[in-house]
Amino acid sequence: MRKNIAAGNWKMNLSFDEGKALAEGVQSTFVDNVLTILGVPYPYLVSANKICEGNDSVAIAAQNMHHMEKGAYTGEVSPSMLTSIGIHYVILGHSERREYQKEDNQLLKQKVDLALAHHLTPIFCCGESLDIRKSGNHISHVSNQLSESLFHLAAADFAKLIIAYEPIWAIGTGETASPAQAQEMHAALRAHIAGHYDDQIAQGCSILYGGSVKPANAKELFGQTDVDGGLVGGASLKTDDFNQIRKSF
Ligand code: 13P
Repeated sequence: MRKNIAAGNWKMNLSFDEGKALAEGVQSTFVDNVLTILGVPYPYLVSANKICEGNDSVAIAAQNMHHMEKGAYTGEVSPSMLTSIGIHYVILGHSERREYQKEDNQLLKQKVDLALAHHLTPIFCCGESLDIRKSGNHISHVSNQLSESLFHLAAADFAKLIIAYEPIWAIGTGETASPAQAQEMHAALRAHIAGHYDDQIAQGCSILYGGSVKPANAKELFGQTDVDGGLVGGASLKTDDFNQIRKSF
């Protein structure tokens, strides 16, 4: 069956030493039957990966990568740079990148293809703004993000992805989607995937929820039938909080 996944997204936070202490505090706390993934800033990837070396239940992810193989793209990081330092996961299409770096579904399609070509597992983020939620079009909006960026993939490639549903209105706001709202969207996305691929692919796909996940609400969210774990921002920056979230399955 689907894996339980607790993923942290540190975003642009923490000094090197703070990050090191956090990675060590997470790595040394074993949680059975949960895959933990830490999305750390580029400069910390090598050392975070070293800290988690030999621990099959904790992996390190980059928070982004460029959509081209290599070349004159000052300041960018390519997928082969990530694999050359032993990274296996990459967060793609986070709403903050969609908003501030204007990443759209077409660009993300390119990034997904390139990541898979390099044997990186994308954690593909999707989600709707508050305006779209209020308009009642949230399910079709998020379904469309999947169709446009992912549904060109062959089933065998789609099966390698992790999806993270992150309603923008719930990110960093303290306002969490209710367990029922999360379940409604996750079930709708799973049905959308089944409609395009088949039921087996849909049932095998890990769909994480992100947006103000905290120790106090993780258990109820992760308890929903179609919620396979979380992509956690703020609460992943504190060792005790994140370890508690990891134990919430
Ligand atoms: P918060 O958990 O801080 O709301 O952030 C969620 C998120 O954006 C994870 O990628």
